[in-house]
Amino acid sequence: MENVLELKVVKEFIDACHQSWLKGWNERNGGNMSYRLKPEEAAALLPLLQPKSEWKSIGLSLPNIAGEYFIVTGSGKYYKNILREPENNLCIVKLDDKGENYQILWGLDNGGVPTSELPTHLLNHSIKKEKTNGRYRVIMHAHPANTVALTFLLPLEDKAFTHAIWEMITECPIVFPAGIGVVPWMVCGSTDIALATGEKIRQFDAVIWAHHGIFCCGEDLDSTFGLMDTIEKAAEIRIKVMSCGGAIHAITKEQIMALCGPFKVDIDGTMLDD
Ligand code: 13P
Ligand code: ZN
Repeated sequence: MENVLELKVVKEFIDACHQSWLKGWNERNGGNMSYRLKPEEAAALLPLLQPKSEWKSIGLSLPNIAGEYFIVTGSGKYYKNILREPENNLCIVKLDDKGENYQILWGLDNGGVPTSELPTHLLNHSIKKEKTNGRYRVIMHAHPANTVALTFLLPLEDKAFTHAIWEMITECPIVFPAGIGVVPWMVCGSTDIALATGEKIRQFDAVIWAHHGIFCCGEDLDSTFGLMDTIEKAAEIRIKVMSCGGAIHAITKEQIMALCGPFKVDIDGTMLDD
């Protein structure tokens, strides 16, 4: 391999960013994405990587992802440009052997730094790596309009959002059986919002930031993108139903729980309790 851009997962990452842009989830520089490289992917890239920055603090100590490599979007970089100029808008970073500092090893050729939400991304990676025995590798953050709109219309509570979104599409509880977490409005880009999100991400694969956007986590780019797509589609249906005067039918709790057996999922029925 002669170029980082030849690696399959790098191509997939760029494609996921562009699909997200096409969905309208990433106005201007809105949103950010990260992928924790597999050891064999990092090994394949290693000859093409070299230090491009000083070591910088991530503001957290994350020993279980120490020494790992991540593909990350750049801060302030426009999603619409990622497909055309990935080397100017993305970077690859490595964490030090304590999991406290990062260094840029590729990308951001025009200058720049990784996303301002790096603390939230890395803390989520750390927690999900532990909780899934290393399976989860992707964190996506974006600003999908209907999901954000619902944060002005529903109580900012996990159960209220889970119920309101689950019951809009029968497949929702199958796709995210734990439900959705909600973080109240906080200053973005901060360690505080990273810690608040980290608390929720232990339980959920999707966490909504009030009046801002959503974070989704998953095993690979397709499933994480699919999770965000499913939630945003259900939020859109919810908004349409609310705009038309509200629902006159609903899927009952019993109907939702009846999905567990046939689809072999452990839907958390307590999310439907008042
Ligand atoms: P960055 O451009 O720093 O990634 O920030 C975008 C964003 O969505 C902040 O929440
Ligand atoms: Zn954002």
